[in-house]
Amino acid sequence: MNGDTLTVIDSRTGKEAILPIITGTDGPPVVDIAKLSKELGLFTLDPGFRSTASCRSRITFIDGDKGVLLYRGYPIDQLAEKSSFVEVCYLLKNGELPTKEQYTKYEKIVTEHTMVHEQLLNSFKGYRRDAHPMAIMVGVVGALSAFYHDSLDIHNPRHREVSSFRLIAKIPTIAAASYKYSVGQPFVYPKNDLSYTENFLRMLFKVPSQRFKMSPVLIRAMDQILILHADHEQNASTSTVRLAGSSQANPFAAISAGIGALWGPAHGGANEAVLNMLDEIGDVSNVGEFVKRAKDPKDPFRLMGFGHRVYKNYDPRAKVLKQACHDVLSELGQHDDPKFKLALALEKIATEDEYFVEKKLYPNVDFYSGIIQSAIGIPTNMFTVIFAVARTIGWITQWDEMIEGGEAIGRPRQLYTGEGFRDYVHISQRE
Ligand code: SDX
Repeated sequence: MNGDTLTVIDSRTGKEAILPIITGTDGPPVVDIAKLSKELGLFTLDPGFRSTASCRSRITFIDGDKGVLLYRGYPIDQLAEKSSFVEVCYLLKNGELPTKEQYTKYEKIVTEHTMVHEQLLNSFKGYRRDAHPMAIMVGVVGALSAFYHDSLDIHNPRHREVSSFRLIAKIPTIAAASYKYSVGQPFVYPKNDLSYTENFLRMLFKVPSQRFKMSPVLIRAMDQILILHADHEQNASTSTVRLAGSSQANPFAAISAGIGALWGPAHGGANEAVLNMLDEIGDVSNVGEFVKRAKDPKDPFRLMGFGHRVYKNYDPRAKVLKQACHDVLSELGQHDDPKFKLALALEKIATEDEYFVEKKLYPNVDFYSGIIQSAIGIPTNMFTVIFAVARTIGWITQWDEMIEGGEAIGRPRQLYTGEGFRDYVHISQRE
């Protein structure tokens, strides 16, 4: 509990530092190491931040051993079952579930910000048609800062609120446009009498030549995907947003940096990588060979959609998505979908294999999300874009918490292992 301390003694000098141990609401306590450099002249080294807490936060809590994920204290399985993505956006940003009146007002503001500047749409023309939609997202979201000079003062809470609404509201419009551009179809404008998620799916799939119609089961599944991906404490992309934002860069630039970090296959790019991996495996008979490769330390191949830095138990989001997969495939009459059957077989074999059991590698959020999106008709290269649509509320909420907390610029140090001091040698003297 607070008041506890950790004493460290430097064996080289016998000097000691007494470090405070700080306990939060839940989860492992932390050691405040500020005194280490001041009193002992020591830094800590923790590449990958496996044992490092980067901040205090009140937004999301994960217990990796118990497979628990809470948004502002509410468990993810209850929110996925009973809430909506827009309500979860309100909860994450404001800390409480909205009253009916608060929800109606919040939803109205989001709905009225869904359009983007025509010049922003024109900027898409600078990309090749076969550009990966994530490449477009990184560029176009960053470019939003070229359009909103009226809300770039990050120290002004009203500016931060307006920027948050603009990002939450416009990210689906930009995401859908990045897809339309890549398939050579006209952009579809938002339709304000639709819900957030139905509006997004309509902008993705509507073509001028026919009416848009989608089963409520599929719309609900997409809404659940957005809820499940909304925030996840200090993951790589959120930490990127916090670090970029700590330099006092504007929120659009910080979110663009987060999109770039999310793109990696070790992070948000895993859902796309899962589908590519399932295509490569092709048939259940080949699963053994791929599991063998995943276990070989000399082979860089990893079983995509498995493992997690924090979850050493089943990712609670994967549990919800596995059920949603069943529901969507049944709704579409595709419960015999070969990819889903292959995924179920791969999950069974992997989770019974001693390597995976010993290393506590379970399916994570990305393992099933791609299969659902594929069934809905979303192309593989859009999966991470959809992850970015969902995570924007998490990023902007974490960014706002950091700015409100007045945190200093993030500037880690290093252990230098390079050359010692040496004088310049003229080229004529070099052999
Ligand atoms: C997301 O951080 C977040 O919260 C992210 C995220 C979010 O919502 O923001 O949850 C979203 O990014 C989910 C993860 C999606 N990525 C993948 O599915 C890619 C495949 N997974 C791996 O690349 C890996 O599991 C990571 C990147 C997710 C985690 O990497 P770590 O932290 O290095 O994994 P670890 O320390 O728990 O690994 C323990 C051991 C290691 O072997 P040893 O060094 O002990 O010999 O297990 C091995 C790893 O090499 N291992 C795997 C593996 N994942 C870890 N071996 C085979 N296949 C895998 N998938």
